Amino acid sequence: MNEKLNAVKAELEKELAAVENAADLENIRVAYLGKKGSITELLKGMKDLSVEEKKDFGQKVNILKGEATDKIAEKMQELKQKEIEKEINSMPEFDLSVPANLERGSYHPVTLVQRECERIFKSMGFNVEDYSEVVTDYECFEALNIPKHHPARDMQDTYYLENGQLLKSHTSAAQNAIYKKYKDDLINEGKPIKAIFPGRCFRNEATDACHENTFFQMEGVMVDKDISISNLIFFMKSMLSEVFKRDVKVRLRPGFFPFVEPGFELDISCAICGGEGCPSCKHSGWLELCPCGMIHPEVLKAGGIDPEEYTGFAFGLGLTRLVMMKYGVKDIRDLNGGSLKALSQFTDDE
Ligand code: DAH
Repeated sequence: MNEKLNAVKAELEKELAAVENAADLENIRVAYLGKKGSITELLKGMKDLSVEEKKDFGQKVNILKGEATDKIAEKMQELKQKEIEKEINSMPEFDLSVPANLERGSYHPVTLVQRECERIFKSMGFNVEDYSEVVTDYECFEALNIPKHHPARDMQDTYYLENGQLLKSHTSAAQNAIYKKYKDDLINEGKPIKAIFPGRCFRNEATDACHENTFFQMEGVMVDKDISISNLIFFMKSMLSEVFKRDVKVRLRPGFFPFVEPGFELDISCAICGGEGCPSCKHSGWLELCPCGMIHPEVLKAGGIDPEEYTGFAFGLGLTRLVMMKYGVKDIRDLNGGSLKALSQFTDDE
């Protein structure tokens, strides 16, 4: 019996050394360890042995069985690895110098206009701030004088996360953090707070040519002693004249936003008809562009700034809207559609 066992062992080793692919190895496994395999047969052949012999021989067969199982698994691993390497080596080599057969992308028109606005505001001494898209209810509403259950929240239904945070519905959500970041410089060193913060905003909207669930705004704030509405008008006018490359007329109409007092809608004279009146401006000669106002005392307080001593203005420029006006985009959904054909028209601007 022992001779038989040694013969099986030697034979298996020989076969394992010679095997070259996984399919053949599987056949070997069946031939030795399968129901009718030679190692299984050895165990079956023990029935004629004495109890002592059974014990001794049974142990040896079991050791062989264990070794065979391990060796076959190891070999399988080795063969699979070789097969992967073979496949990799047979792949054609990449020539990185071959030009890709793809259309080239371009800067998104929102990026172009955002950069242009950033450049203009930087030149007027504003910091450009980046702010998270996920914010707290406090940042988005409470700190902006919009308590829970305030009707102003209805216009800004957005997407809520399970942890109670939300996707910001307007860039104003960064105001509180900006005041807290710069208030010490304002109070201790007399440095005015001048910051803009462009960003992606989200609202739970039914989409159509004028409404999207994802759009861009650019918020701006300036806080110092004696800031007035004239400062607001000056900065807005300078910025818009640069963007539109002509002197734009602006006008303010009253508008309600809980975080400013007084609040305004800022209109610009229609770029298409020059203020004469045309279908684009509904024959009024004016286009609504940018809500703004004097920062509400409660909002300054929430940011750690004393409203008795400091005042400021804030504006929420609709970047997406500005892009649509500047480039004559008629359907807002084209801007998020990702179609190279639609977007590549703007490549030449930069
Ligand atoms: N956050 C407002 C909105 O998205 C827009 C806005 C209005 C921003 C007035 C301002 C402001 O900074 O002063 O509807």
